[in-house]
Amino acid sequence: MADSVNSTTGDGAEPSPDDRIAAVRDGALAALAALSAAETADGLQEWRNRYIGRSGEVTLLLRSVGSLPPEQRAGFGQGANRLKNELEAAFDQREAEISATTGPVGAIDVSLPGRTPAKGRLHPITQTIREITDAFAAMGFQTFEGPEVELERYNFDAMNIPSDHPAREMFDTFWLDRVDEEGDRSILLRTHTSPMQARIMETHEPPIRVVVPGRCYRYEATDASHDWHFNQVEVMAVDENITFADLKGTLYEFARRVFGPERKVRFRCDFFPFVEPGVDLAIDCFNCDGDPACRICRGSGWLEILGAGMVHPRVLRYSGYDPERYTGFAAGMGVERVAMLKHGIDDIRHFYTNDMRFLSQF
Ligand code: PHE
Repeated sequence: MADSVNSTTGDGAEPSPDDRIAAVRDGALAALAALSAAETADGLQEWRNRYIGRSGEVTLLLRSVGSLPPEQRAGFGQGANRLKNELEAAFDQREAEISATTGPVGAIDVSLPGRTPAKGRLHPITQTIREITDAFAAMGFQTFEGPEVELERYNFDAMNIPSDHPAREMFDTFWLDRVDEEGDRSILLRTHTSPMQARIMETHEPPIRVVVPGRCYRYEATDASHDWHFNQVEVMAVDENITFADLKGTLYEFARRVFGPERKVRFRCDFFPFVEPGVDLAIDCFNCDGDPACRICRGSGWLEILGAGMVHPRVLRYSGYDPERYTGFAAGMGVERVAMLKHGIDDIRHFYTNDMRFLSQF
């Protein structure tokens, strides 16, 4: 701004009114130019408040008119007003410049890639349980669930495993600290889903076709293929005239549905106290053709996937069914094992460490 005739600037004296205007102007324009394109709307608003807002520096200049000697007032007032207009115009222009590079100030930047919301998914064990129960549902089997905290009576006695029978040692478990009238512990975490065979027979009339998925517990050391808790799916069909052929046909169809239509199955004798005869079922390895280096079947060509058999007459009788009239088959499989085989997972503990790098693959 040109020097004013009213200038009273002397050495070290009060700045002249015109110099005050010039100082505000220089500061304001420099600050405005410094607002970069990266500035948010906040930066512009701050500038506006500081210089031309209601208690901004220019406004203070205007208010100070009254304190000047009368002959200076008109000139100073005009100068301050001119400055106000000038800064408002400069502000509008700077705002427009910034908008031109970043879009309207304060608006959403539509060019910024959106954040993908994290989607949940079912745990691989839940997915496997559904695959298994779906395969049986297609053959007319209903899904039931039962208690994880079970009476000894159902877990063992009803399953033809009396107290003191060595077969109890197949299933070491966790007992609850609660004793019955005879001073015996009688409540435990179930070691298998088989007790649901008895619970369902007690409360339902034949024909029965059920699958029972659920958690089981065993008191054993954890390693790559054992955990102290795991899931099973129990299968049971009871009716008049159910034969071993029904067992074979149903389990064969299950294996094909879950492991692929090319599957072959192998039945071999096995022992479970609650079935007679008892078998273990294996499928041919879907990963190899008897390759000795196969990491899924370890060269045997076969994968054992479940235990099964004809429901023992004592189990039928215990639950109030006449074994002369009714027969049935039952099977039980470990869900983790099925999932590990299907997906080539080498350690059961992966399922329960909640590592998203593992879980998000399913
Ligand atoms: N309950 C048996 C187990 O946990 C599996 C099984 C169920 C075997 C039904 C035969 C029949 O090992």
